[in-house]
Amino acid sequence: MKNISDLRQNYTLGGLEEATVDSNPIKQFATWFQEALDSDLLEPNAMTLATATPDGKPTARIVLLKGFSDRGFVFYTNYKSQKGQQLIVNPYAALVFLWDKLERQIRIEGKVEQLSPIESDNYFHSRPKASQLSAWASNQSQIIANRQVLEQNLNALKDQYSDTTRIPRPKHWGGFRVIPNQIEFWQGRPSRLHDRLVYYLQDNGNWQVKRLSP
Ligand SMILES: Cc1cc2nc3c(=O)[nH]c(=O)nc-3n(C[C@H](O)[C@H](O)[C@H](O)COP(=O)(O)O)c2cc1C
Repeated sequence: MKNISDLRQNYTLGGLEEATVDSNPIKQFATWFQEALDSDLLEPNAMTLATATPDGKPTARIVLLKGFSDRGFVFYTNYKSQKGQQLIVNPYAALVFLWDKLERQIRIEGKVEQLSPIESDNYFHSRPKASQLSAWASNQSQIIANRQVLEQNLNALKDQYSDTTRIPRPKHWGGFRVIPNQIEFWQGRPSRLHDRLVYYLQDNGNWQVKRLSP
């Protein structure tokens, strides 16, 4: 097996210049996200979501980005899960995308809010019926005795909702929006001299771009 300490890539695909990035980081994100979509990545919208306990202990996991706009970056989850509970008490999060094929990373930090019930309803009902039932079947992040518990829950729900066309959204399942105050675009460059441009949100609502040392 190859020695882990010998694993390294030299990044040569591109660069990131202050003069050519968009002055609005959401527009810059849209450009990069489109390029990720065009690059045949398996899950271009997969992102690491970091949250923290009220006393500052970090936790992280992958979730799927389900929308973004000037208002922020949206994902869906169980509000009673570990992340959900942490975000309700300590509503700050960090998101990280790695698009390794493009030699790119994006980091987003900000305050978090719950989506309105109507927004969560709309997304919930756009999901396949099986996924809707799974949201009911799974008490996300709770310890369960075995896999059968899940399958029994799901089978009972299938019976319960067999004649129902519109399955109600569980009140404990919905979206969160990360409202960014900082977004970093990272482009790998040769010999570890990578490009890092960070947009900081100013008090007046404008974004300021700074270059950070790699
Ligand atoms: C590719 C991928 C996508 C995922 N998408 C989501 C998601 O959108 N929402 C979600 O709640 N969990 C998602 N998960 C599962 C989470 O990583 C995690 O296991 C789960 O949400 C429980 O996390 P928690 O106990 O920290 O709350 C995804 C996992 C993977 C690997």
